[in-house]
Amino acid sequence: MKKLQYFEYEGLTLASAGGRLPQGSRPAERGEGPVCWLVERDPMTSRGFFPVRDARDLTGPEHWTRLDANRLDPAEPLPAGFAVNTAFPDVLARQRRFQQCLARPQKRLTLVGLGDVGGQLLTALKLLGTELEEIGVYDPNEALCRRYALELDQILDRPLPRIVIRPAEALFDCELFLFTASRGVPPLGSRGDVRMLQLEQNREMLKHYSRQAREAGFSGLFCQISDPVDQLARCVFLQSNRDENGRFDFRGLLPEQIAGFGLGVMMARAAHMARRLGADCPRLRVYGPHGADLVVANDPEGYDPVLSQELTRRTVGANLEVRELGFKPYIAPAISSAALSILALLRGEPFLGAVPMGGVYFGCRGRLTGWGQELVAEPLHPELAARIEAAWSRLKEAEPQCLV
Ligand SMILES: NC(=O)c1ccc[n+]([C@@H]2O[C@H](COP(=O)([O-])OP(=O)(O)OC[C@H]3O[C@@H](n4cnc5c(N)ncnc54)[C@H](O)[C@@H]3O)[C@@H](O)[C@H]2O)c1
Repeated sequence: MKKLQYFEYEGLTLASAGGRLPQGSRPAERGEGPVCWLVERDPMTSRGFFPVRDARDLTGPEHWTRLDANRLDPAEPLPAGFAVNTAFPDVLARQRRFQQCLARPQKRLTLVGLGDVGGQLLTALKLLGTELEEIGVYDPNEALCRRYALELDQILDRPLPRIVIRPAEALFDCELFLFTASRGVPPLGSRGDVRMLQLEQNREMLKHYSRQAREAGFSGLFCQISDPVDQLARCVFLQSNRDENGRFDFRGLLPEQIAGFGLGVMMARAAHMARRLGADCPRLRVYGPHGADLVVANDPEGYDPVLSQELTRRTVGANLEVRELGFKPYIAPAISSAALSILALLRGEPFLGAVPMGGVYFGCRGRLTGWGQELVAEPLHPELAARIEAAWSRLKEAEPQCLV
């Protein structure tokens, strides 16, 4: 490998991998700490920052193939650290603020939308999120806010997070912003995908919050939970990155500051269906969107197409089984997709969620660090890889719906 030239900048060791050096950086020996690699890539389809363990992380396209260890180049040694994409203005400072936000020992959350999913999620976080400092709630229905602030403050146990009502103008005074609001979940008996039916209205509703995040200079994580999760996560990115004239300036949320939470319940439903089928699947996997294009695999390498397709079919339809009983399914989603996944993320553990991948938010297993999303790559059976590619491509084709 060619000898690398390092630079010093505000206590960081920088090395260019095609990205622009910030003004004020000067040539230096490599310091003790991690190396910050500078890359310059199209901000519409590339990440803002990401961990680098070896040369593979700096090369290769930014799409679903990153999940398949068979398709990654052989690992070439490289000083470890992280990469920042200098196509995003001021990216070094923004990455640093995000890292500081995640490192705060006691987190403040804001939860917007106190309907069935929001209420259930709040209760779960109150009981399970013992390390959280405060959860601020907001819903246009003030009585709902007061109800939850009163009821959840009447639970005797310590230490538990405080529940407070967050004023509309202070929604982003937090490290994590959780969004479960919806302009209307289709009623029982509705035909079609109840998630996609909400796209247009929820996309419009989100505009206000995406813009507020930008104006507040929000440095934390925007967790998108209402449907359709994956498309709306992309909408938040696009909406927050336009200037007053509607032009993209990429001064809003970085791609890593947004994650979609809908895959957790799909994994739990797939495990439930495997038990009902009597199938033993210790390496069960789920990928892709929280909806019709979900991919369930009995095993990433020992992939059985018949069993996996059957598990997928049953998992995708699992919500209808509850709807047929006359109930809207929201308990398992609020707990599996949101509460457990978000707490795992906060604890630095692997979590299931939709993360930025080549211009879409794609569901997979990852781990969030102050340096960005670490994806779990493992060898994939070719038939499984083909299904993942198809799901990723369909999300990508549908991207124009997020641009509006
Ligand atoms: N991620 C998942 O795994 C998952 C699973 C199930 C459902 N969902 C989705 O979660 C969303 C919420 O479902 P629900 O059953 O709680 O719906 P709900 O109708 O019970 O609640 C929606 C809430 O949003 C609030 N709201 C409406 N407009 C708002 C606005 N402009 N700002 C803030 N809040 C506003 C309403 O007052 C209401 O409290 C839906 O999109 C649903 O499809 C997600």
